[in-house]
Amino acid sequence: MKLYFAPLEGITDGVYRRAHCKMFGGVDKYFAPFISPSAGFRVTHREKRQLLSDRDANYTVVPQLLIGKPDALEEILPRLTDAGFTEINLNLGCPSGTVTAKGKGAGLLREPDALRTLLDALFALPCGLAVSAKTRIGFSDISEWEGLWQILRAYPFSELIVHARTREEYYRGRTHPDALALCKNAPFPVIFNGDLFSPEDVQAIEKAYPELGGVMLGRGLVANPALSRMLRGGEALTISELKRFHDALCDAYAEEMPFKALHGRMCEIMSYVCCCLDSAKKPLKQLRKAQTLADYRTRAEALFAICDLKQQPWFDPLNL
Ligand SMILES: Cc1cc2nc3c(=O)[nH]c(=O)nc-3n(C[C@H](O)[C@H](O)[C@H](O)COP(=O)(O)O)c2cc1C
Repeated sequence: MKLYFAPLEGITDGVYRRAHCKMFGGVDKYFAPFISPSAGFRVTHREKRQLLSDRDANYTVVPQLLIGKPDALEEILPRLTDAGFTEINLNLGCPSGTVTAKGKGAGLLREPDALRTLLDALFALPCGLAVSAKTRIGFSDISEWEGLWQILRAYPFSELIVHARTREEYYRGRTHPDALALCKNAPFPVIFNGDLFSPEDVQAIEKAYPELGGVMLGRGLVANPALSRMLRGGEALTISELKRFHDALCDAYAEEMPFKALHGRMCEIMSYVCCCLDSAKKPLKQLRKAQTLADYRTRAEALFAICDLKQQPWFDPLNL
C-alpha cells in the first residue's frame, strides 16, 4: 500500500518536503502544490523555485498542474521532463470559486466535454511522463460520480487519487468512501484521500477496500508529521522531535524569505500542529502576534515548553 503526502498550497513546499523527509520519512511520493501556467504559458519564478528546490533530493516529487485547456501543455510538459520529473498530476479538485469559474480544478468536473478535450490532448502528447490525476467525486452532488468515473476510467492514468467529497462540500462534513465501490476493477491504481488522520483511520479504509493502491494524507500528516513513519511501523511522535522539526523549518525559511512571509508560513503550519498539543490555544495566539524573527522564536520556545503532546495526537478540524 502506497503512502503519499498530499499537495497543500502554502504549506508543503520544497523546504517543508525536504525537512519532512529528512526527519520522518515513510512517504512514497510528495505531491507538490499546483502550478497554474498563465496565458503566456509561463511558470512563475516562484513556481519554478518551488519545483526545482528539491531536484537533488532522494525522494519522489510529483508536480501538479492546474489547467483547464490544453493550450499550455505543449510548452510546459517538455520543461517538466527536462527538469527530471517522471510523473505529472492533474488537479481536478481545487474547489476555489475563482479557479472553478475559469473551468479549472473541480470546475472541470461539471464540464465533461472540456474534461475529455483536456485529457485527450494530455494523453496524445508524447511527453514520456506518467499522468495521474487528483479528483473529487462530483461538483454539486455525489450522484455525478458514476458519470465522471466512466469518463476517467477510459484514460490510461498511472494512478487516480480520489478525494471523496464534492466541490460543494469543500472540506466540510464527512467523506464518502462508498464512492470507492465503483472503482473495484479499476484499470489503474486508485488512491484514497480525505480525513485520514490516525493509523486507525488508515487501517479502516485499507480493510474496507483492500484493492486500494494506497492512501494520500494531507492535514493529518502536517498536524502529526510522524504519522507516515508510524504507518510504516516506526516510532510515535515525541514533543522534542516536533520542536526540532519546527526549528529546522524556521531556520530554513529564514534563509529563503523575509520575516512577514516566514511568520505567515510558520503560523499556518503551527495551526495544524497545535491540534496535537494540549493547552496550545493561548501560546498559538501569542505566536501569531510576533513582530520579529527573534520574537517569534522566543514565543515558539515558550509554546513548546508549556505544551505537551495529546494522548491521541491526531488532527481534529474542529480544533483549528
Ligand atoms: C491549505 C490547503 C491547501 C491545499 N492545496 C492543494 C493543492 O495545491 N492541490 C491539491 O490537489 N489539493 C490541495 N489541497 C487539498 C489536499 O491535497 C487534500 O485533498 C485535502 O486536504 C483532503 O485531505 P486531508 O483530509 O488528508 O487533508 C489543499 C488543502 C488545503 C487544506
